[in-house]
Amino acid sequence: MGAAVGHVHVVLMLQYLSLVIVMVLLVTQTLAHEPDWGQTLPYEEMMGKAKVTRLHFYFHGIASGKDPTSVSVDQPASTNKSSTMFGLVVIVDDPLTEGPDLATSRLVGRAQGPYGFAGQKKLALIMALTYVFTDEKFNGSTLSILARNPVMNPVREFPIVGGTGLFRFARGFAILIKLLYFGMDLQ
Ligand SMILES: *[C@@H]1O[C@H](CO)[C@@H](O)[C@H](O)[C@H]1NC(C)=O
Ligand SMILES: *[C@@H]1O[C@H](CO)[C@@H](O)[C@H](O)[C@H]1NC(C)=O
Repeated sequence: MGAAVGHVHVVLMLQYLSLVIVMVLLVTQTLAHEPDWGQTLPYEEMMGKAKVTRLHFYFHGIASGKDPTSVSVDQPASTNKSSTMFGLVVIVDDPLTEGPDLATSRLVGRAQGPYGFAGQKKLALIMALTYVFTDEKFNGSTLSILARNPVMNPVREFPIVGGTGLFRFARGFAILIKLLYFGMDLQ
């Protein structure tokens, strides 16, 4: 049936633009050769209506002290001679809270993943973090951020490249505003 409908479209469209015809033919072919293991569906049927979610929370990266949220994984010998720690790889598990105070504020999730020191001349990280949320309706949903982090900039923007759960097919951006530096806390 799909192929027959497609042919009718092609015949009608032949009198119009050739570009349109090419597109109709492609759709027809997709329908005609649909295998059992892979089906193409209309976009709206799968995705519904797009919505925008704004999140605001505080991020705590603690590099030293008795309860650090990061560990060094590896570094080449040359990292010790580098003013930007070039080559060092770190894994973080940073708490995300509703308010600024880590001790008293509600935990809403964690930012987990590796980052590496990727700048030879200027301090910069390359981060592959997953933000997993653990509160309210966002519990279990994640956002993935893959970004360069120019650590010394007070305001930084990161691309959101995907997500799961409520954030399935997510795209967007995150703005990080640095509030406090404690010693070697570099996030
Ligand atoms: C780098 O320096 C630290 C402390 O100064 C030392 O513990 C570590 O072994 C050095 N690492 C390398 C790879 O040289
Ligand atoms: C989040 O989900 C987990 C697992 O489904 C559950 O154990 C936990 O209690 C939930 N947390 C909140 C705050 O709802």
